[in-house]
Amino acid sequence: MRKQPIGIFDSGVGGLCVVKEIKKLLPFESIHYLADSGNCPYGSKRTDEALSLAIKNIEFLLGLNCKLIVVACNTVTAVAIDSFRSQYNVPFVGMEPALKPAVLQTKSKKIGILATENTFNGRLFKQTFEKYANGIDVFVQSGYGLVELVEQGEQNSERAQRLLEEYLLPMMEKGVDTIVLGCTHYPFLKQMIKKITKNSVIIIDPSDAVAAQTKRILTAFDLVSDDTNNSMFHFYTTGDKTIAETLLSHSMDSPYKIEQIEI
Ligand code: DGL
Repeated sequence: MRKQPIGIFDSGVGGLCVVKEIKKLLPFESIHYLADSGNCPYGSKRTDEALSLAIKNIEFLLGLNCKLIVVACNTVTAVAIDSFRSQYNVPFVGMEPALKPAVLQTKSKKIGILATENTFNGRLFKQTFEKYANGIDVFVQSGYGLVELVEQGEQNSERAQRLLEEYLLPMMEKGVDTIVLGCTHYPFLKQMIKKITKNSVIIIDPSDAVAAQTKRILTAFDLVSDDTNNSMFHFYTTGDKTIAETLLSHSMDSPYKIEQIEI
């Protein structure tokens, strides 16, 4: 069972930032990644619609014999991670709204969070907020349009700059010194965020924490692969392959396969 692959999915290419961290911590794991780019974005869909797409993603990955599923999507985690855990027989790792590390690092006691509408509406965000945000001013902002720009490879475009200025400058004026990236597509915008904030804020990206949690869970279930020779990365997309080809050619130093599929 240790040799079985890990399954990871997102509404699109965003979850690749989680893949990168998982590959650092767990180099011998084989990974099947499903980007549902054909149905992206999930963040402003009706929650029942996002949920039924997520279930199709999970069943596709389970059909490939995955031993654990990483929900590399804040929106899907917010909408349904608990129900997946009770419905399926494999362990699930989800995205946590990274408020805790932000609270630990802010000096101004003012934090900004960028995420999708469905993430902010979910119970998980409310619970995390109540648990950690005591005495902290939290400025929430839905990142309308940002996921689509990343999906189109437009993360460094003028439009990305304009949207991010619109979302971030008001927070900056309020004295925010820490910004949480509450959507896995947003780390692709980090350079632009740094430029707009003039490198004056701490940017919290929870991808490494999610990778660490994946390792903890695999270890607890005695599922860590020790197969030093055969790890592979297989990227499936329900959308266009071009963006994946560009992103993977820049970020992968080991062999990979890209395949277009329907779910
Ligand atoms: N990467 C997804 C997330 O983390 C994007 C959601 C969407 O498709 O709007 O929430």
